[in-house]
Amino acid sequence: MAIKSLKIQNIRNLRHVEFMPSANVNLIHGVNGSGKTSLLEAINFLGLTRSFRTRKFPYFVTREQKESIVFSQLQSSLDQKSDSLGVSRDLAGAVNVRYNGSNIDISQLASLVPLLVINTDTFQILEGSPAIRRQFVDWGSFHADQSYIHAWRSFKRVLQQRNSLLKCGKIDPQIRRVWDVEFVKHAQQITQIRQRYINQLLPDFLAISERLMGEVDLSLSFSPGWDQKRPLDELLDEQLQRDLKQGYTAAGPQRADLRIKVDGVSAAERLSRGQKKLVVSALKLAQGAVYNRLKEDSCIYLIDDLPSELDAQHCQLFCQFLEQTESQCFITCVEPQPLMSYWQSTTEIKSFQIDNGQLRDA
Ligand SMILES: Nc1ncnc2c1ncn2[C@@H]1O[C@H](COP(=O)(O)OP(=O)(O)OP(=O)(O)O)[C@@H](O)[C@H]1O
Ligand SMILES: [Mg+2]
Repeated sequence: MAIKSLKIQNIRNLRHVEFMPSANVNLIHGVNGSGKTSLLEAINFLGLTRSFRTRKFPYFVTREQKESIVFSQLQSSLDQKSDSLGVSRDLAGAVNVRYNGSNIDISQLASLVPLLVINTDTFQILEGSPAIRRQFVDWGSFHADQSYIHAWRSFKRVLQQRNSLLKCGKIDPQIRRVWDVEFVKHAQQITQIRQRYINQLLPDFLAISERLMGEVDLSLSFSPGWDQKRPLDELLDEQLQRDLKQGYTAAGPQRADLRIKVDGVSAAERLSRGQKKLVVSALKLAQGAVYNRLKEDSCIYLIDDLPSELDAQHCQLFCQFLEQTESQCFITCVEPQPLMSYWQSTTEIKSFQIDNGQLRDA
């Protein structure tokens, strides 16, 4: 899938930007504060109806404006058909997503526009809380298995019910058992899909990270959120008194995590800043590769300030991997050189300069 044309209205300092990106590599350069990250945010908004920088929409919409709009023509890699997609959101909170003239919901939108973002927040996969790593696993599980979203929503509903019963302090054992049966059923389904996804991702991740980082003893393992040697229903029974005291459920996929280690110790503690960027980039490149294989289609990469933290050699290697994914990429940087020279002649590169919210071909 690629974006053929893009029209952005009222996102931060981008009052009106219209352009036709390349289906391969788009380099967007400009000085600090010119609007580079805002342009990536606008594409993120097209795919998810929200920014990756803020949850507070009034900061995202252009000052003194009431509504942000992004309109695009999309081109599938599978056929040459082009589809129209428009996303808008206003200050009153109304979100509108129109695909070929019909309303669609957010999960349909997310599968239509598969986005992979690499920015300074991506470091959080290593440094942040387990919730960030679960988001990473959930992105892949969502795209890898159609039943994931339904299983996840059902599980979340059961978990909320169970936790609100726990908070009351007293649960009728029969009612709890009914909820626990549902809890275990959905927990197992989610965990199976997540585990399968990580198994698919692992070889790509190890191969890419080895090329990017050389001989480093990296490992990636999935921790499902409870001791797998024990049946989950038994654990729920056993931990009931503790759960009642705490007012929430301690075991289950809501506690899943990924463990990323170097030489057997946490990668977050061991690696340099640049090495961390290479590891998180390898994770995202592996996600793109798995997506390609499973869907026979490609993702869209949004990469903010690609050269930061990377030396020239690693930056070029990263670009080579990106090129192999055959994805559409939107890459921002302050200086377009030497990034311009890192690509093969067969790759279609478009270069844009952004200045005070105005975009032009460079
Ligand atoms: N709601 C808003 N309305 C109008 N302008 C805004 C709004 N929010 C932020 N801005 C401005 O938009 C401009 C572009 O910000 P952006 O973060 O996209 O810049 P950038 O090119 O990525 O800069 P850097 O190189 O420093 O990362 C900034 O000058 C910022 O102050
Ligand atoms: Mg920026």
